[in-house]
Amino acid sequence: MIITIDGPAASGKSTAARLLAQKLSASFLDTGAMYRAVTLAAMQASVNMSDEDELLSVIRTNKFEFSVTDDEMSVRINGIDFTEQIRTPQVTANARYIASCPNVREKLVEMQRQFAASRQKIVTEGRDQGTVAFPDADIKFYLVADSAARAKRRQADLRAGGDDQTLEQIQMAIEERDKSDKNRAVGPLKPADDAVIIDTTDLSIDGVVEKLLSCVKEKCLKKN
Ligand code: C5P
Repeated sequence: MIITIDGPAASGKSTAARLLAQKLSASFLDTGAMYRAVTLAAMQASVNMSDEDELLSVIRTNKFEFSVTDDEMSVRINGIDFTEQIRTPQVTANARYIASCPNVREKLVEMQRQFAASRQKIVTEGRDQGTVAFPDADIKFYLVADSAARAKRRQADLRAGGDDQTLEQIQMAIEERDKSDKNRAVGPLKPADDAVIIDTTDLSIDGVVEKLLSCVKEKCLKKN
């Protein structure tokens, strides 16, 4: 069983996907962590972020390991844990170079399919999970929310980590990221034709998970 959850930055995908996976005893895959890991490795190697061949060589020459614990995806690059470092604002801002590189996307989608192939049930979240990585997924969700509401959520996360950016700065960065995610040629952010669209603006995280769960139950009942 494959469930995909796509949507823009800070729409609640990650937390909702993780909690849904827990409820369904399914595996959870945060594909953003993969793009972030390659971005960090590219930054560490000081490659030219606009050079596709150099970006591709980052994937070829580094060993990336992704494992899932109850709380998050752990990321190791060449055996060293970088789970925290992939979340810095610098990595977030540079991820668009990696995300716009078709060859890198192809490799990461391949890794995502391998990850799913070895599991019975999976909830996977990102931007292109229902459209490109798993077009035949059993259930597809697309989460949306006002950029102001998303900025507030992101600010709470960032503050917990000691980062004190203003709401305006955060909202602007989110809108920039949406623009770049929606307008790239390969794997752009958009809902799959058969996705269930959920607006999370006025929902608590528990409310989002409840909605997802009831859709899953309804779809499973219809199938059986
Ligand atoms: O979801 P998260 O914010 O961690 O993703 C970081 C970046 O990785 C996004 O801004 C997006 O550009 C890219 N991404 C992507 N496709 C995915 C997941 C993430 O392009 N499936």
